[in-house]
Amino acid sequence: MGVSNLGVSMRAQAVIDLDSLRRNVERLRIAAHSSGATPALMGVVKADAYGHGVTHVAPALRRNGMEWLGVALPSEALALRADGDTGRILAWLIVPDDPTTAECIAAKVDMSVAAAWLLDEVAQAAREVGFPARIHVKVDTGLGRGGCSMQEWPLFVEQLRAAVDRDEVEIVGVWSHLVAGEDPHHASAALQRENFASAVRQIRAAGISAPLCHLANSGAVLADPMIATGATGGLVRMGIAMFGVSPGIPLGDPRSLGLEPVMSLRARLALVKSVPAGQGVSYGHRWVAAEATNLGLVPLGYADGIPRSANGAAVWVRGKLRPVVGSIAMDQFVIDLGHDHAEAGDEVIIFGAGSQGEPMAEDWARWSGTIGYEIVTRIGPRVPRVHLESGGSR
Ligand SMILES: Cc1ncc(COP(=O)(O)O)c(C=O)c1O
Repeated sequence: MGVSNLGVSMRAQAVIDLDSLRRNVERLRIAAHSSGATPALMGVVKADAYGHGVTHVAPALRRNGMEWLGVALPSEALALRADGDTGRILAWLIVPDDPTTAECIAAKVDMSVAAAWLLDEVAQAAREVGFPARIHVKVDTGLGRGGCSMQEWPLFVEQLRAAVDRDEVEIVGVWSHLVAGEDPHHASAALQRENFASAVRQIRAAGISAPLCHLANSGAVLADPMIATGATGGLVRMGIAMFGVSPGIPLGDPRSLGLEPVMSLRARLALVKSVPAGQGVSYGHRWVAAEATNLGLVPLGYADGIPRSANGAAVWVRGKLRPVVGSIAMDQFVIDLGHDHAEAGDEVIIFGAGSQGEPMAEDWARWSGTIGYEIVTRIGPRVPRVHLESGGSR
């Protein structure tokens, strides 16, 4: 029954190659240091390490010398601590009255603070815990999303100074996020760098040391390490490129950027059958066989993260690209095998490294009008992650 490298009973799995992850990190470290600066690296592992399985990815990053881990939520940071991670962690998306603030301070999780109300909450929690909270203060240099506005920054700096004087906070860093890190010539870029420099100057003028300044994401480091690290120096926050997905297609595909896709999404055909000309396929019969053909049933659907909106998509079966036909359903979709022979149980590569000709996450992004980030991050919890590292699976 069928040709497959997946376990015999396996419906589908996301194979995560931790050796590729390690090589991507090395590639990014070399890029980040190529300007002569030696910023520390932060591996961004929010959202289950962009869908790659944080419980395996985070220890793999630490084994490979990752100095910092970055997450959005305090709960993600505390989960890392519960898993035994003792290194530096920054969490940056905190809502009012978060019940875990004191726990984060006690667990030496660094927190991003961008508003007076949060500074007050963190200060209050620090008094309860009995030592200063480690914070990175965030300024909005132009993204127009998180961060204290440039207008409010001078007053915020005064409030920070007062909190430092009361020993409530230790200001570890000043940071911001880019509009288009992968494009250093974007219309927003020069102003963001200027604003960032100004925000840091104001912090220093207030006598706050804030040793780590950080602005760059992985796209910024790959696009122009000189600009990315010149403005910031201390730390660069690496997300998508670590996982071997391009931060932006104009910058290049993973191979041209020297990156290896880490996730390969595979399944096994659940059924193969011959249908006559005129057979409609899947809900609404949006595709009808023009001639007699063989169809294959792939047991993954939009509940697993396969984008229903994909148009013109294909998968890799028995050494060829096979078009997806008809609507993608919640748990399954259909491919057209033409006159080729295939069997239930055959391996289907939905996306992977692209080395055999199989689609990559970037292809699925193009077919569904999104970005590679979303393709890997949306793979659902029904798909087991299988982590491979030299020496076997973990
Ligand atoms: C604040 C922040 N920094 C860094 C990153 C990492 O960016 P990238 O995945 O583009 O490298 C992200 C990801 O969205 C982020 O939200």
